[in-house]
Amino acid sequence: MQLPIRSSCRRGLCGSCSVVLVKGTLDDVCSVVEDGKVYSCKSYLLSDAEIHIKYT
Ligand code: FES
Repeated sequence: MQLPIRSSCRRGLCGSCSVVLVKGTLDDVCSVVEDGKVYSCKSYLLSDAEIHIKYT
């Protein structure tokens, strides 16, 4: 499923695509996590997941 998540750099640098992973498993090698937030442009899920997206 594709979700409408804002993004900018799409390189794991700016954080504009960050979401909160509530449930699910990320690939630890290929994912970018900073301050508890997952940069969705550079992260890969290994399972079904629940995420929280903040729209401002
Ligand atoms: S779009 Fe910049 S970190 Fe994801």
